[in-house]
Amino acid sequence: MIPESFIQELLSRVDIVDVVERHIQLKKAGANYQACCPFHSEKTPSFTVSPSKQFYHCFGCGAHGSAIGFVMQYDGLGFVEAVEDLAGHLGMPVPQEVSTRSQDKARQQPLTERMARAARFYKEQLKASPKAIDYLKGRGLTGEVAAKYGLGYAPDDWQGLQRVFDDYASPAMVECGLVIENEQGRRYDRFRDRIMFPIQDQRGNVIGFGGRVLAHGEPKYLNSPETPLFRKGEELYGLPQARKAIRDEDRIVVVEGYMDVVALAQFGVGNAVATLGTATTPVHVRKLLRQADKVVFCFDGDQAGRKAAWRALEASIEALTDDKLVGFLFLPAEHDPDSFVRSEGADAFRRLAVQPTTLTEFLMRELKAGVDLATAEGRARLVHEARPFLTKLAAPLLRQQLTRAVAEAAALSSTDVESQCGLKPPPRGRPAPPRTRLRPAPHAIERTLLLTVLSRPERAARLPLELIAQDNAEGAALVAVAEAIEHATLPGGNLGLLIEYFRGGPHEEIVAALAGQIDADAGDEGEQETVFTDSVQRLRTRGLSRQIGELNTKARAGTLSAEDRQTLARLLAAKTA
Ligand code: UTP
Ligand code: MN
Repeated sequence: MIPESFIQELLSRVDIVDVVERHIQLKKAGANYQACCPFHSEKTPSFTVSPSKQFYHCFGCGAHGSAIGFVMQYDGLGFVEAVEDLAGHLGMPVPQEVSTRSQDKARQQPLTERMARAARFYKEQLKASPKAIDYLKGRGLTGEVAAKYGLGYAPDDWQGLQRVFDDYASPAMVECGLVIENEQGRRYDRFRDRIMFPIQDQRGNVIGFGGRVLAHGEPKYLNSPETPLFRKGEELYGLPQARKAIRDEDRIVVVEGYMDVVALAQFGVGNAVATLGTATTPVHVRKLLRQADKVVFCFDGDQAGRKAAWRALEASIEALTDDKLVGFLFLPAEHDPDSFVRSEGADAFRRLAVQPTTLTEFLMRELKAGVDLATAEGRARLVHEARPFLTKLAAPLLRQQLTRAVAEAAALSSTDVESQCGLKPPPRGRPAPPRTRLRPAPHAIERTLLLTVLSRPERAARLPLELIAQDNAEGAALVAVAEAIEHATLPGGNLGLLIEYFRGGPHEEIVAALAGQIDADAGDEGEQETVFTDSVQRLRTRGLSRQIGELNTKARAGTLSAEDRQTLARLLAAKTA
């Protein structure tokens, strides 16, 4: 484990502007630097790097973090590797803290650190296993592609991971899904004698594994269970590795299998990712559409593949917008993407991928296939079947087009179809005004305070901590931030440092998210100070109101003591002062 003090030292010496500029070109814009975001596709720059805060943030896709976070996200590295990379550039040797065994729970490795270590172990084991290397070679993969995807091998050993985890008995090993415990309490490795595909999140952390048998056996692929890190219905295999190719082509290809992704990359099709043995979900589709304007689902040519494509269509209907394109590529029945690219080549695959069947074409084809359009009943049925798709489709222009296609097929007018399906005609003229907010959102005070404190950490000392409600994420984070600023040597203003301080903890997300809003919302300094003092005042007033409320309840119940009465009078006076 790397000591916390080293991370602080590193982040106070590294300059995030240098780090980002090693990868993309930045342009000065006022006090900050700007660029087109490397993490999603865009034409106008919304990616901002703040040298004073040592923090980056994209207003388009919400990516944000410290210099360490940037390297993790951009290069697809784990936390430790990113720290080593940055330290290497500064010539700082990375010290290793002797881990204080498992009894020290507070210092327990975060789960991501465990997964990264397991991935490294499997990778080393691959090098040592001629049988596993032969298997991958037999499937046409080079060492280079295997390294790019971090492929590994889990040895044929019941407790192989014991070699690299001296706390094999720790509950965290089960929690992260690497180890299984049977009814007798005996522990063993989940993955044995399998080719290992590490699954990474968007930031490059290893969050799960898929393991393939080398010969024949059941199941063919074994996957990590759902863990605090890993939600199958949301993750995409191969995303960090595909990012650059996706950006270059503004297109992302979605396939079914790990091997499909890796084989496509081997043949030069780098922009492919895979769902993880689950049907495509709307979460997947939203994630995909953030990466590129065009998403092409490419499923196997068999019956199962068509079914998977239909599920992907259903998931896309809700997530699609008019500026995006979702298409479908159907391979010949005998092929999956892996076998296709192998036998027909990358160019043949690319030709198919640039002219996929569009979502509306696929939908209309399937709808029509199920009915007899020569009969009135069949045409009525078509409208009936189309209805849920028309109502769910979120993109208004595309909905208009689809309505027209349905109308034509059913020999009706678009207006008829709209009224039959309960659709409102597309709005004309001005959009409706946004709904006015009647009351400030709950915990808005804590949120504002957190924002102003992150902007100027020295404000933390002026917070009335006892009045902050901690039953909400903002309040709890605010108190934690205040304590961190008071106790740790966190130099003012360096948000990157603060973010790293909270990495892996319960406050990470909210702190990072609000830190990302600072530059946009800050306003000028005087204005911000007013907002801060105002919010502190509102906190006090709220505290007083609560106390008064409690005493009033007592009074109504007739249990108000003489002392209470005096307190109440004092509180009321303070409130009106
Ligand atoms: P396929 O059975 O199509 O395998 O499963 P594949 O991708 O062609 O793999 P190879 O070429 O035989 O090696 C597609 C995906 O479904 C999930 C995996 O994610 C796999 O990549 N799957 C399949 C499982 O999770 N478990 C299984 O037993 C099989
Ligand atoms: Mn295959």
